Amino acid sequence: MRAMIDDAANAELWEGNAAAWTALVRQGYDVCRDFLNTPAFLAMLPPVEGLEGLDIGCGEGNNTRLVAARGARLQAVDISPTFIRAAREAEEGAPLGISYLAGSALNLPFAAARFDFVMSTMCFMDVCDTEGALVEAARVLRPGGFLQFSILHPGFVTPRWKWVYEAGQRVGVICGDYFREADGETVAEWSFGNAPAEVRAAHPPFRTPLYFRTLSRWLNGIVAAGLAVEHCVEPHPDEQQAADCPYIADNLIVPNFMILRCRKAGSGARE
Ligand SMILES: C[S@@+](CC[C@H](N)C(=O)[O-])C[C@H]1O[C@@H](n2cnc3c(N)ncnc32)[C@H](O)[C@@H]1O
Repeated sequence: MRAMIDDAANAELWEGNAAAWTALVRQGYDVCRDFLNTPAFLAMLPPVEGLEGLDIGCGEGNNTRLVAARGARLQAVDISPTFIRAAREAEEGAPLGISYLAGSALNLPFAAARFDFVMSTMCFMDVCDTEGALVEAARVLRPGGFLQFSILHPGFVTPRWKWVYEAGQRVGVICGDYFREADGETVAEWSFGNAPAEVRAAHPPFRTPLYFRTLSRWLNGIVAAGLAVEHCVEPHPDEQQAADCPYIADNLIVPNFMILRCRKAGSGARE
């Protein structure tokens, strides 16, 4: 399918987002990442000590660093050179042996079967060619290796979406137009909702093209890439976590995110 915003146009948009994104996440405003998604991602990650891994769409490298700190030898790519510079600066300040490269998920600069595992946090739903990203991730995995990735939840984050209230309280959402897939025709303008207005006003809004895909398209793409789903988590806080960080409490009503771990067929031996 032809995307109206292709990989090059998407790269330009993300490059335009990178400085503000880095500043805001490093001030702690990506609470969905820090209090919900990353803890869930790390909780379901198999042991990686001594393994060689790749992080696709690493951004400024927060999650790359957390996984490297578990003893993995990590390389990481992002389509935005500004994100890569920010990640390298962090590596220089506190080395974890991570090597960062600018590159696209659709054309990874690595040989086949190079990695024991591939990770990607909140990137694949931003890539215009969903199936291509999955095939590329599977290509660089050794047989028996795993791909673990998080995305916006395809079943609950749909093109038509609004809260349902009862007695002034959010109780659910209307998700509509589920089958109206999008190829970047709409570029969303947004910022981290929990950042104070004056902080948001100090930066341009993020501009991100929307690529809506159905759940079946994701699952069929995984199968076509030669991978098998072995674990799925829909991150949601417990009551205590919701009380500690009310911004993520909505994920107790419907999950906004989904994490999948998939395994490439074959033995653990390197090719
Ligand atoms: C929502 S941010 C997530 C960043 C980071 N993984 C995290 O969880 O904090 C999405 C990232 O995907 C990157 N990205 C978007 N399209 C990409 C592509 N085709 N190839 C590689 N990276 C891409 C963006 O530059 C951005 O850093």
